[in-house]
This record gives sequence, structure tokens and C-alpha cells, in this order.
Amino acid sequence: MYPLISLKKKVMKVLLVGGNGTIGKKVSEALSMHEVITAGRSSGNIKVDIASADSIKNMFAQVGEVDACVCTAGTGYYGPFATMSESDLLPGIQGKLLGQLNLVLIGKEYLRSEGSFTLTTGIASMHPARNGSAVAMINGAVNSFVLAAAQELKQGQRINAVSPGLVEDSWERYGKLFPGYNLVPMKKLVNAYLLSIEGAVNGKILKVWS
Ligand SMILES: NC(=O)c1ccc[n+]([C@@H]2O[C@H](COP(=O)([O-])OP(=O)(O)OC[C@H]3O[C@@H](n4cnc5c(N)ncnc54)[C@H](OP(=O)(O)O)[C@@H]3O)[C@@H](O)[C@H]2O)c1
Repeated sequence: MYPLISLKKKVMKVLLVGGNGTIGKKVSEALSMHEVITAGRSSGNIKVDIASADSIKNMFAQVGEVDACVCTAGTGYYGPFATMSESDLLPGIQGKLLGQLNLVLIGKEYLRSEGSFTLTTGIASMHPARNGSAVAMINGAVNSFVLAAAQELKQGQRINAVSPGLVEDSWERYGKLFPGYNLVPMKKLVNAYLLSIEGAVNGKILKVWS
């Protein structure tokens, strides 16, 4: 006979930026046994615009220490390559790219030891759709940052990126932009967030593409 080991999970304090979005809402539901604080520009428990470092600093000052910081916020420009310009690229760079990097650079002072960051990228980094070069660049940059940052975070802090494919709940909104893409079951995608938040993985790009 083996002794029974209790697998009761520790209740964590989780900051979920984008927690009212399509993916964020489902991640929030799956984390219901934890203390979840959601944040967004106009939604959530705390107001933040991740495009502004000052806004991120202000959010962490209000929230204090956390066990996990998760970001399911941000997007990038979709449009024709032939006419794409710097001004098309900048909002996504300031939001989804720099915003997520700043969540880590500022947030690491508020993340408890052995806590985790979970950022969100996307299938476009490797399989960009037509008109998707701006988003492909942003996702690729965040993925590379995660690989590198995992080597240098201190006190057992971890970092991963979840890379969603086209999620089933977004078919109506985005389906036409992604012909031929497999739809990702939301449950499968949410599991990748749980793996990063509650599991032990570090420095991984958790691809959920089908
Ligand atoms: N849905 C998909 O099929 C899919 C596929 C691949 C990758 N992704 C990626 O997954 C992430 C989430 O996608 P989603 O479909 O769930 O998006 P969504 O439904 O548009 O939700 C985004 C959430 O983020 C918040 N947000 C947006 N910009 C923000 C900012 N600058 N600062 C703070 N909060 C902000 C929004 O709330 P407020 O409006 O209140 O700010 C909203 O709650 C995105 O990075 C997206 O590129 C999604």
C-alpha cells in the first residue's frame, strides 16, 4: 500500500489582464478556486492600459504581490502588406508587445518567489495568415522574449507563453480572416494556461493550434 498524498492545490492570487475577453473569461472561470483579479482598459476589477508603463505601475501598486500574472490582452494590425506603414504597426507594438514585456519587467518585483507569468502570443508567429505580418512579428517577438527571460528570472519565478490557434469561440469574429485554420477547443486552450499557472513548466511556448 502506498500512502495517499493530498493533491489539494494552494489558493493563489492571480492577476489576469484581459480577464473579460473571449479567452480571458474562460481562463478566469477555470481559476475559480483561486483569488482572481481581472484588469482591462474599461472592464475588470482594476483599470489598466498595458500600452502605458505608468498604467501598469499603477495597477501593480494597487494589486500588490501576486502568485501569477496572466495576460490575455492585446492585438495587432491586420491589413495589406503593400500599404502597411509604421503607424499601422505602432499600436500593436505598444500594446501586445511592449505591454506584455512591461508586465514582466515591472511585475517581476511584485511576483512572489516561484510565481509565474503567462503571456499570450498566437499561431501567427509560425503560420501567419494573409494580411498578418504585423501580428506575426509581435507574436514572434514575445515568444523569443519568453525563452530568454526564463533564463534570467530569479527566485524560482517562471514564464511561459500560450500560443492559441483560432479558438472556436472566435470563429464568427475572425473566421473569415483565417481560411483553412483548425478551430481550437476552448477547453484545450484553457488547459495550456492552467499548465503554465499551476504546473511547473518554464520557458515554454505552449502551442494550442488544433
Ligand atoms: N481569439 C483567438 O482565436 C485568438 C487566436 C490567437 C491569438 N489570440 C490572442 O489571444 C489574446 C486574447 O484574445 P481574445 O480573442 O480573448 O481578445 P478579446 O476578446 O478582444 O479580449 C481582449 C481583452 O483584453 C483587454 N484589453 C485589450 N487591450 C488592452 C490593453 N491595452 N490594456 C489592458 N487590457 C486590454 C480587453 O478589455 P478592455 O476592452 O476593457 O481593455 C479584453 O478584456 C490576444 O492577444 C489575441 O491576439 C486570440
